[in-house]
Amino acid sequence: MPAFVNRVTGLFGIEYPIVQAGMVWASGWELASAVSNAGGLGIIGSGSMYPEVLRQHIRKCRNATSKPFGVNIPLLYPEIEKHINIVIEEGVKIIFTSAGNPNNWTGVLKKAGVVVVHVIGSTKFAVKAESAGCDAVVAEGFEAGGHNGREETTTMVLVPMVKDKVKIPVIAAGGIATGRQMLAAMVLGAEGVQVGSRFVASEEASVHINFKNVVLNATEGDTVLSLKKIVPVRLLKNGFAALVAEAEARGADAGELLELLGKGRAKRGMFEGDLQHGELEIGQVSAMLNDILPAGQIVRNLWDEFKTALEQPLSNY
Ligand SMILES: Cc1cc2nc3c(=O)[nH]c(=O)nc-3n(C[C@H](O)[C@H](O)[C@H](O)COP(=O)(O)O)c2cc1C
Repeated sequence: MPAFVNRVTGLFGIEYPIVQAGMVWASGWELASAVSNAGGLGIIGSGSMYPEVLRQHIRKCRNATSKPFGVNIPLLYPEIEKHINIVIEEGVKIIFTSAGNPNNWTGVLKKAGVVVVHVIGSTKFAVKAESAGCDAVVAEGFEAGGHNGREETTTMVLVPMVKDKVKIPVIAAGGIATGRQMLAAMVLGAEGVQVGSRFVASEEASVHINFKNVVLNATEGDTVLSLKKIVPVRLLKNGFAALVAEAEARGADAGELLELLGKGRAKRGMFEGDLQHGELEIGQVSAMLNDILPAGQIVRNLWDEFKTALEQPLSNY
């Protein structure tokens, strides 16, 4: 019997309704297995992996945990078909898709017996994901790190709107790093939370230590939703983000922005630790982060804080 019984813990077979977000350059098998071992759902972020690298991460994760784990597949990945084939061949049973049309691959994955969750930033896409046969949606608000919706809807507004539009479980994402924030999301109608930025500042995250340290130093207003003409993404402000802001202010088109982005920006920033010229994806909640913790500790803290918050009368807050 899991510590908390609802549709999300049941769907994934986990203890707590806490999902560690799949994140490029940050969530390999070390992070995913540590979260799964602690009773959450660990997710391998495949968006920064070559197909055979993904296969190795899946195998290592399976060796490191006997608990359920998943793989996040951004649908704009150029070799998407190879990633889909690998997760099916390797018998992965939980896939989170994002950044694309849920109609394209949900049917194939469902036929292979996979639980499919799609990440959305608007009610329109939530309804589309449900119609495509997804088992749940992640409603990701404006605050979130990484790729984001064009509508700029905050988690506070998006979660209850999505909840009213779909029958499948809603998992809230964007701006959640404490148990109190988790409780707030559940009160809004979410049945689980997906947490990204908090896990970037974990011991097991595979990003460069320079990036982890700059995340700890971030304060209010240090992130910006950037590159809306290509794929909107929330970044930490740095030299690269300033170049993009300057180009956007003078009306640069998608072609110019793509050229400015070039190849390997995210790797350069998050994985190689080039804090000036690289792309540094992180959420607004980075302003609340002060420590690098073991991922299992993050899961336990979230759960303990959630329970304490749940049991407290409102007048004690
Ligand atoms: C470094 C980083 C990389 C990310 N990469 C991905 C990704 O590859 N696929 C995806 O669906 N979302 C990605 N995201 C978004 C997360 O999955 C998650 O929804 C988001 O971080 C939640 O908001 P939070 O950062 O406020 O916790 C990324 C986020 C971060 C911070």
